[in-house]
Amino acid sequence: MEKIKETLDYLNFKTNNFKPEIAIILGSGLGCFCDNLNGISIKYNEIPHFGSSSVLGHKGELLFCEINGKKCVVMQGRFHYYEGNSMQTATYPIKIFKKLGVNTLFITNAAGGLHKDLNVGDIMLINDHINFMGDNPLIGKNDDTLGERFPDMSEVYTIKLQDIAKNCAKELNINLKEGVYLATTGPSYETKAEVRAYRLLGADVVGMSSAPEAIVASYLKMKTIGFSVVTNLATGVGENKLSHDEVLEIGKISGINLSNLIKTIIEKID
Ligand code: HPA
Repeated sequence: MEKIKETLDYLNFKTNNFKPEIAIILGSGLGCFCDNLNGISIKYNEIPHFGSSSVLGHKGELLFCEINGKKCVVMQGRFHYYEGNSMQTATYPIKIFKKLGVNTLFITNAAGGLHKDLNVGDIMLINDHINFMGDNPLIGKNDDTLGERFPDMSEVYTIKLQDIAKNCAKELNINLKEGVYLATTGPSYETKAEVRAYRLLGADVVGMSSAPEAIVASYLKMKTIGFSVVTNLATGVGENKLSHDEVLEIGKISGINLSNLIKTIIEKID
């Protein structure tokens, strides 16, 4: 608890007690979301007890700002498990956001499409996830003041927010796909056999993040919505070998559409 207090004190001091109600986590290549936003930026490495994010294409900053009249905090890059962060470190910002007053979380990520109904560049609304990381951010002593020991996971991704997202996508003429996100630890991409296995398990896309954040958000009773940008077809589904450069490039184009979609949803929610 002392740790959380130190982080909160630092952020409150730097932002003059800015109280965001919405948090947005930006995945690979979605940096453009912040292009027209002004506010207070704080580098992760200055924030007590925050992890480190070293992946190319991630800025490593929190931005406190207003978006369409709502107070927001934007995470430009996340703490991945595959970087050596513990599950607790990877999800620490979610706990901090909750304490700052955030009640709605937007999660975004880059992911590989697991079947041919998905095309490179598609935006997929996450309607559920499979945590295939073999670890869970809630392992350890439970803080009963934050959430339950055995939290329900029947609506991790808030249905009402999903409905709003679908309506906004129609309005903006965005062809929004919908499906299940499967999280692996990474950092290696999948083998062809793994891709076949994940399809059989009922997943539509595969990525290396997000599920731990969504689990903690649900535990903390935050409303949550998630989007995957299909930056590539997973191994064996498409023709090409996978590269992080390709992931970043596609992320940028669809990132503009996804940015518009998220900002429109923010305008609509109360
Ligand atoms: N697999 C896992 N993670 C990813 C992929 C992928 O194909 N693309 C972007 N993130």
